[in-house]
Amino acid sequence: MKARRRVVTGPGRKAVSGRERPADVARLPAPPRSGPDSATRVTPVRPKPVVIPAADVDLAVDLGRGLVLPNPILVASGTFGYGVEYGDVVDVDRLGGICCKGTTLKARIGNPTPRVTETPGGMLNSIGLQNPGVDAVIEKYAAAWTTWRTPVLVNVAGESVHDYVEVARRLDGVPGVAGIELNISCPNVGRGGLQFAIDAAAAAEVTAAVRRATDLPLLVKLSPNVADIRPIARAIADAGADALTAINTLSGIAVAPGRRRPLLGNIYGGLSGPAIKPIALRVVYEAAQVVSIPVIGIGGVTDLADVLDFLAVGAVAVQVGTAIFADPTLPVRLVDELAEVCGRQGLSTYRDLIGTALPPKTGLPSVKGVEYRP
Ligand SMILES: Cc1cc2nc3c(=O)[nH]c(=O)nc-3n(C[C@H](O)[C@H](O)[C@H](O)COP(=O)(O)O)c2cc1C
Repeated sequence: MKARRRVVTGPGRKAVSGRERPADVARLPAPPRSGPDSATRVTPVRPKPVVIPAADVDLAVDLGRGLVLPNPILVASGTFGYGVEYGDVVDVDRLGGICCKGTTLKARIGNPTPRVTETPGGMLNSIGLQNPGVDAVIEKYAAAWTTWRTPVLVNVAGESVHDYVEVARRLDGVPGVAGIELNISCPNVGRGGLQFAIDAAAAAEVTAAVRRATDLPLLVKLSPNVADIRPIARAIADAGADALTAINTLSGIAVAPGRRRPLLGNIYGGLSGPAIKPIALRVVYEAAQVVSIPVIGIGGVTDLADVLDFLAVGAVAVQVGTAIFADPTLPVRLVDELAEVCGRQGLSTYRDLIGTALPPKTGLPSVKGVEYRP
């Protein structure tokens, strides 16, 4: 039997075989060379990074069309009401943006109960877009929104292109409305009930129609319930969206006690919370590589590490959703923590953290993200 080549790495160090050395074991530094000047050589002292006060770190996010968020931490639609409900608990003016509850043309009473249930690492909800309709939303809340520094984005839902366009028209020019986030994970009645979000042509059609109806900044929210997000993301960007938000909930069901029927009154619910974060990261990673408009990440954010992960895969900002139910103060704390971590690393802007985990740009559309085939 042939003897294995041993690599001796230095006195007292564990020898590692050349073949067995795992690829991810970092190479050890070379021992100092002996020579006439080795005794007098001064070991260079690494300069400490300059710490920047958190208050001086630039957290602003420019989403285009005049919409500049004061910082990249927003609250996700459906988890922060219309913002005013949280006024006593949260300093809403410290948030980067508020995506209000899904708003439709006419009032909706929502789905039959039960509407929510806990799941491992998350929750299922089937609220069914309960809301008082766009006119009532404007009347009740827009005045309060004008008093905030934090931009409010109205999350718009509908069952036809006409619905979306009409809601957008009514929001256009309303003081206090900083922009629109289109929730296209809705059944498209005109196309047999298939969601706008799962079909590139339907997603582009509704985006383009709303784009023509309003000059408001237009964000479009991607659904994860598709085989390949990239053609859909591209179609929405080409149709005139200013930014993408990703992701909405994943379709799921739970079973009722006794196991004779599904638990939720609507049978289907949307899965959210930490359980969906890896999927959200994957969607952001894929979308960010095929569009040149900003992408905002959503899905399972519960701490600063989650925020940094989303930035690393190309998100310019994040939304916090389900975690707000456990701790409404979390988003504001994340703003402070992000500024502090940047300051400690000597970064004058958080933007240096964006896209660090993306592959280098080749100019060609990426083929990454379709490689995992179960
Ligand atoms: C109770 C509840 C209601 C929601 N309502 C809406 C909605 O009206 N419109 C929308 O676009 N997304 C809605 N969402 C989805 C969230 O905005 C977010 O995309 C999703 O929950 C993933 O983020 P998270 O894991 O941080 O919660 C809702 C989520 C929850 C939990």
